[in-house]
Amino acid sequence: MIGFIGGTGPEGRSLARRFALSGQKVIVGSRSKARADAAVAKIVERAPSSLVTAALNAEAAQMGEVVFVVVPYTAQRSILEPLANQLAGKIVVNAVAPVTVSGGMASAVEIPEGSAALQAQSILPRSEVVAAFHTISANDLWRTEDPIESDVVVCANDRDARDTVFGLVESIPRLRAIDGGGLENATYVERFTALLLNINRRYKAHSAIRIVGI
Ligand SMILES: NC(=O)c1ccc[n+]([C@@H]2O[C@H](COP(=O)([O-])OP(=O)(O)OC[C@H]3O[C@@H](n4cnc5c(N)ncnc54)[C@H](OP(=O)(O)O)[C@@H]3O)[C@@H](O)[C@H]2O)c1
Repeated sequence: MIGFIGGTGPEGRSLARRFALSGQKVIVGSRSKARADAAVAKIVERAPSSLVTAALNAEAAQMGEVVFVVVPYTAQRSILEPLANQLAGKIVVNAVAPVTVSGGMASAVEIPEGSAALQAQSILPRSEVVAAFHTISANDLWRTEDPIESDVVVCANDRDARDTVFGLVESIPRLRAIDGGGLENATYVERFTALLLNINRRYKAHSAIRIVGI
């Protein structure tokens, strides 16, 4: 079972749909059961309904064996602090890209811990935080009828946790997981999303990354 904290937003909903389409059970968490129900109704328009459940965030954290954090950076601390017990001993996949947009230009937010992923790890010392999926647009993930060709850089301190997240990345057709090293490298991937957003604006596109030469 894959849990989603903040699974009602575009990123969580789209990942949940992709994982359900690959045959995995997902539990979509929200602060409101009604919003979780509404998100699940959209997800199952194109995914098996038997694999998708709606829940409050605490239940998604409790039930998920691997749990995604897909909330805005500004909400991360207040959402995660009360969930530390439910998330203890689990892999927590952090896709949070701390970016602000001003005057149409995206820029990275400075974070005392160095990155959103390192901040999550400091809030959840008994969990194994893995940073991944920052550079995949929710729009591209949602359109399951179109191929999505990209690499996903995965930053993790623990080898087993990294391998688990590699498996999740590659359960989505045509995505390739790339080992980005330890969690301290998450800052580079998080920051890169600001650049991608600015590229998207210039090209009126949904850009993604592909690493070559490896
Ligand atoms: N959108 C993308 O293309 C994309 C791509 C890569 C990474 N990301 C990252 O993934 C995360 C989620 O992105 P998103 O576009 O899905 O974000 P979002 O729609 O702004 O937020 C996702 C969910 O988080 C919850 N939330 C919002 N504000 C909150 C608050 N103040 N306190 C607690 N919960 C709050 C909401 O769920 P409830 O109201 O149901 O609780 C919301 O549906 C972000 O950190 C983003 O940087 C996004």
